[in-house]
Amino acid sequence: MLIACTTVPSYPLPSAMEERVDTLIKNQSKPQPELFAHRIIDWQQRHGRHGLPWQGEDVYHIWLSEIMLQQTQVITVIPYYLRFVASFPTIAALAADSEEAVLEHWSGLGYYSRARNLHRTAQLIMQQHEGKFPKHFEDILALPGIGRSTAAAISAFAFHERRAILDGNVKRLLARYHAVEGYTGEKKIEAQLWQQAEALLPQSDVAIYTQGLMDLGALICTRSKPQCPICPLQKDCKAYQTERVAQLPTPRPRKVLPEKHSTFLLLLNGPDILLEKRPGSGIWGGLWCLPQIDSQILIEIEDAGAYCLQQFCMETTYPLTLSTFTHTFTHFKLHITPLLLQVINNPKQIQEPGRIWLDVTDALQAAIPTPVRKLLRQIQAGHRVG
Ligand code: ADE
Repeated sequence: MLIACTTVPSYPLPSAMEERVDTLIKNQSKPQPELFAHRIIDWQQRHGRHGLPWQGEDVYHIWLSEIMLQQTQVITVIPYYLRFVASFPTIAALAADSEEAVLEHWSGLGYYSRARNLHRTAQLIMQQHEGKFPKHFEDILALPGIGRSTAAAISAFAFHERRAILDGNVKRLLARYHAVEGYTGEKKIEAQLWQQAEALLPQSDVAIYTQGLMDLGALICTRSKPQCPICPLQKDCKAYQTERVAQLPTPRPRKVLPEKHSTFLLLLNGPDILLEKRPGSGIWGGLWCLPQIDSQILIEIEDAGAYCLQQFCMETTYPLTLSTFTHTFTHFKLHITPLLLQVINNPKQIQEPGRIWLDVTDALQAAIPTPVRKLLRQIQAGHRVG
């Protein structure tokens, strides 16, 4: 009861101070969850992100951005998002184009099942929802590639529904705010965080609140170097009060990732390079890759020539070994050794389904994963890979 009416002076206050007194009076009468939401909403309006290209009411734009932002930061997503909507301006346009074209636009963004699901979902919306993105939460949740948090974000942004989100940033923020011990990926801890996220939802302004939570998680309550001195939740944050911000959330239990080896063949025939399409599902599903020889250990260099002769009926020069590098997936590490081979005679330059010879510059425009892009860029620049 520090701010009783009697403590408010009767002479005019400077406007900033007036605003603060106003907020204090308003906050006094708010129960704890409302106060949390009020602080987030107030902070979002003053300091949050406004003018992101997908912000607005268009549910297609919101859906697309939420999928792109699932494992990727805003700064990376923006150029991909802009190119994507320029090429596929509507759900109908997306559904009508090929998966290949969609993957091309996703090339370099990673987690390609997101792109395949997006395309499949667009077709499903055309067939089962008369071309309109569904409004009901349960229908949104039933769409491929959309989990509980993404469905909630779409519902909140596009339809102003009162739904709780819990993405990685929000997990971290809540784990600190309530000083929750335990790895947030663990079922029990996750269930606890979902309960807290639900309990803190405001009665109104859910879209601003949701954006505020995301912004605060991404800009202030960051994993390393959080900006506690300017955080609007500082006063009630349990981790801050108990000096455990650096320890929370509890890190993922350390797990040694399995390691695999693969030899990537850079088969050059003049300016052209051979690419092979990966099967539709699994790692890099549906993308164009270099022919690759997977093995437990590194293969003998001499074997690569024999492999080309046997697989592609091509005689090649002695392979030039380029530096091995490592690509880390969520579940394993892949050590990649690129071998550069010039084709000596390839009379009927193979044209089979799933195999294509492309000029290196054209290959860079195709749906290729990041390690292949890295190698092609170096070939294009005339450099050795290292
Ligand atoms: N992360 C996930 N969704 C987001 C959004 N709409 N804006 C900013 N960051 C996000």
